[in-house]
Amino acid sequence: MAGKHLVLIGLMGAGKTTVGGECARRLHRDFVDTDDVVVGLAGMPVEEIFRAGGEPGFRELERNAVADVCASPAPLVIACGGGTVLDPENRRRLRAAGVVVWLRAPVPVLAARVGDGGTRPLLAGDANGSLTRLEKLREPVYEATAHCVVDTGDVDVAGVADAVLRAYEGTRA
Ligand code: S3P
Repeated sequence: MAGKHLVLIGLMGAGKTTVGGECARRLHRDFVDTDDVVVGLAGMPVEEIFRAGGEPGFRELERNAVADVCASPAPLVIACGGGTVLDPENRRRLRAAGVVVWLRAPVPVLAARVGDGGTRPLLAGDANGSLTRLEKLREPVYEATAHCVVDTGDVDVAGVADAVLRAYEGTRA
């Protein structure tokens, strides 16, 4: 179905932002990262949002961000923060307005990419341990939300973007 958003989901470090930017460039579309929308709504960075309102405060803003981006009449490429699809309303909106592609990679690959967790509050202290725990909790949710899955393990950005766009074209046809 022409006009659907291309939506990328998956754990932190899966490459949603990098691959999403590349897909948007190739599709001549705007790219939106839900984290950037949340930061814009709050007027403060992600770590401060977590400090001020905890994860529930962040998730509430994230729900508003998802509603905003899904409502765009122009089809977008949307990279979702890793926990976006934990919310049933977000899952419903994203699946209805877009083709949802799960970028999947093994935890050691994700851990290598995120390093010490950087600006991600949920990875503070022990990124590898947190990713292992989150993978167990979230894998069934990613699987249930995605229309298709692309493995990003040892493939470069251009190769992952090829696979994502193939999956997107195949699913929306
Ligand atoms: C989160 C992922 C982050 C960001 C926030 C929470 C999560 O986005 O939304 O730190 O719950 O997985 P990225 O997946 O883009 O790093």
